[in-house]
Amino acid sequence: MAANISTSQNAANGKPNPWQGAGAAEFDLRSDTMTKPTVSMLEAITHTTLLDDVFNEDPVTNSLQEYVAERTKQESGLLVMSGTMGNQVAIRTHLVQPPYSVLCDHRSHILQYEAGGVSAWTGATVYGVIPKNGIYLTLEDLQKRAVLDNDDHYCPTRLISLENTLDGMVMPLSEARRIVQWAHANGIKVHLDGARLWEAVVSGAGSLSDYASLFDSVSLCFSKGLGAPIGSIIVGSKGFINRARWFRKSIGGGVRQAGVIAAAARVAVEETFGPGPNGEGGKLKETHVKAKKVADMWTSRGGKLQNPVETNMVWLDLEASGLGPNDLAAIGEQKGLRLMGGRIVIHYQVSDEAIARLEQVFDAALSGKFERSADQSRPYGMKA
Ligand SMILES: Cc1ncc(COP(=O)(O)O)c(C=O)c1O
Repeated sequence: MAANISTSQNAANGKPNPWQGAGAAEFDLRSDTMTKPTVSMLEAITHTTLLDDVFNEDPVTNSLQEYVAERTKQESGLLVMSGTMGNQVAIRTHLVQPPYSVLCDHRSHILQYEAGGVSAWTGATVYGVIPKNGIYLTLEDLQKRAVLDNDDHYCPTRLISLENTLDGMVMPLSEARRIVQWAHANGIKVHLDGARLWEAVVSGAGSLSDYASLFDSVSLCFSKGLGAPIGSIIVGSKGFINRARWFRKSIGGGVRQAGVIAAAARVAVEETFGPGPNGEGGKLKETHVKAKKVADMWTSRGGKLQNPVETNMVWLDLEASGLGPNDLAAIGEQKGLRLMGGRIVIHYQVSDEAIARLEQVFDAALSGKFERSADQSRPYGMKA
């Protein structure tokens, strides 16, 4: 099956890439982390500089850090190996010594999917706040849980960590602004897990710099919808980034010839997100259109959604349709699609053929004419 993507040949020797065929990204809708590097990324890697980034000497890495800092209107950037490393290093850099607490959305990645890193590395108590509107946290949600006084029963709030997009849903720029203004007026720092901030921007919610310049730190991922094989970045003030280098080093994130990572990451930002401040000229917009199409395919057959579709994720309510948590994945497997739970993630390497097969999966799932998966142990709604 020919993929409608630019990973068809190895740039250096013209041979097919080993990651084509079985396991190719075009039929993998479990996550946008499944995207594979493109020919331009591979070419950029072959032309990269290979000096030592622990010594701060690698031109391609330094240039990527400056480039992302400039595009986000922050002073400095620091390449890290993953989104988790970006969040953990940033949060550790903001915090000094307990007692203190971090407030975040109860569904957020830092709380649910980072192996308990925040409490382990910082000693902070982390409070997961439930947004009243079910979609994004508001200032009022946070004010109810913030500890601003010195009553020694409680842990003073020192950091708010927001996530945008969260489960594919957007935090409006106006709400982010209200939260940051209030937090700063109360001596609270604000970090943004912007692993998928690119997606919020492309949805029209605000420009990359409108959002990113608000926060004390932002982590952004190159290896999700943008398609780079490895890497994330933290941006913030010069002083913050200088301090963050210590924590990155302490957890083994200082790497030597980082140019191989930075070169592909640069292409991911320039070509996949795009050169414009709102992702104009990039490849993400089309994924949002496809995600809406997938949602329509599901609801027009009587299926229900768990969340509104605002970017590249579609959350199907399997339980409401009488499906077990693994049923969709099992039906998908028969059609050569890789699915996980009820979350469908559209990335730019998902082909039209994959969407056509997904339609057949929905037909089978919602008509009830399929063999139930033997393993139903996975909880509904798991992301990872
Ligand atoms: C919102 C969010 N933040 C952070 C991460 C962590 O990224 P990584 O898998 O690169 O550690 C993820 C991973 O999917 C994520 O969805």
